[in-house]
Amino acid sequence: MSAHQAGLSAHQYDAGRNGGGFSDCHEHGCSHVANLYQRLLPLVRRTWERGDRPVFTNVWYVAARSEDLQDKPLKVRMLGCDFVLYREPGGKAVCLSNVCPHRGGSLAHGKCKDDGSIACPYHAWSFNGEGKCTQIASRRDEDPQDVAPGVKIDAYPTEEKYGFIWAFLGDEPENAAPIIEMPEFDDDGFRSTTTHSEVWETNYHWAKFSNLDLVHLPVVHGIKFQNQDNPDSPPPFELTEHDDGFDLVYYPSTSRPRKGGEWDKIRDSDEAKKVESRMKFRVAGISLYGKVEIGGVGSGMHNVFYEFSTPIDDQTTAMYYIFFRNFMLQPELDEEHLKRNLMQARQDKAIAEAQQPRIAPVGPDPNGLYTYDEDSEIRLYWNLMGSMRERGWQIDRKAWAEALAAGHYRAIPSPVRKKDPKGWVHDEVPRYARGTTFAAAE
Ligand code: FES
Ligand SMILES: [Fe+2]
Repeated sequence: MSAHQAGLSAHQYDAGRNGGGFSDCHEHGCSHVANLYQRLLPLVRRTWERGDRPVFTNVWYVAARSEDLQDKPLKVRMLGCDFVLYREPGGKAVCLSNVCPHRGGSLAHGKCKDDGSIACPYHAWSFNGEGKCTQIASRRDEDPQDVAPGVKIDAYPTEEKYGFIWAFLGDEPENAAPIIEMPEFDDDGFRSTTTHSEVWETNYHWAKFSNLDLVHLPVVHGIKFQNQDNPDSPPPFELTEHDDGFDLVYYPSTSRPRKGGEWDKIRDSDEAKKVESRMKFRVAGISLYGKVEIGGVGSGMHNVFYEFSTPIDDQTTAMYYIFFRNFMLQPELDEEHLKRNLMQARQDKAIAEAQQPRIAPVGPDPNGLYTYDEDSEIRLYWNLMGSMRERGWQIDRKAWAEALAAGHYRAIPSPVRKKDPKGWVHDEVPRYARGTTFAAAE
């Protein structure tokens, strides 16, 4: 992404109160970016007023926790479509569109077969992990391609990593942003909690924002920024932009509210201590990573979280978590570790589920009310979403709603479809044309 697309300087910069964001850009002679932005603002607003609902294909999403997929097929709703997950006899996870092309049976209610295919519960047509129809039960001695020429189903690439099953929901896996690295997973110095999942009744952008900004930390979680004049104002932070996300690091002084339990022993006093706090956002998995040196700088005690968000539809989000620590490694403390971290998720969930409108307004600053410094991450987030939209990956919800109202099912396109675009019973979900920007008239 170019600096001007991003509306921010592409180099590493300090986006805290002492400079950054557009102010930083001004210093480098880029004030026209701010002017352009102001000119585009009404268009951005108008885009939202037209009911835009950004949900993207061509992204790796967490489809389930590994432990949730055993020997039975699992129906999973993502991006407003239905999918079936199942395991081949060797254990490999398969992800297919759940809607049988024959007469719309739900494959997830069918049976896994020894040859690695799944049989539809209605007339037992079978499909394998490549989306190929391998058998039609009533004509078992005939080639399915002779009986129903061209019959097939969308099949999506999968990976099983870090205790989760990931599915690539799109038709351009070669352009996929990579799944985030999780070095703590194989590091004996770290101990993880179990994976955790829950459903939030909110749009996935709202859900993600609940942890992306720093200003909410003192307000929602009671983590005050101390040893400075205003405990509600985050200290300067440094943002680094990448093609598929951004990193943030800052060093707030915090004291930890005492809540009882072993966790209180992390600090020997109530005195505020400077901590190192790192955060990463990555598009794949709509992933957020946080690493806080919880015992204070130099303590070497790190609490780490990974949070993944999968849109079930545009108003409901599946949230997945795993937490790590490299201190208090006794297994009996796992529960408290999970509880402490989920306590914050509870607070974020309450905020996100009560937010209006139900779907987050689109664009880097839809109402012109964002503060340029503290809201830098939200702007970077929308810039990333904007670049996916420009690549033609955003679902056109309005066109899709019309198709649904007319009684049609639509499937998320897969690599199988891209390779063999003809003869599909269910057309693919409509998407915006390549080159559409958030500011473009629709
Ligand atoms: S509906 Fe699936 S086999 Fe007939
Ligand atoms: Fe939060």
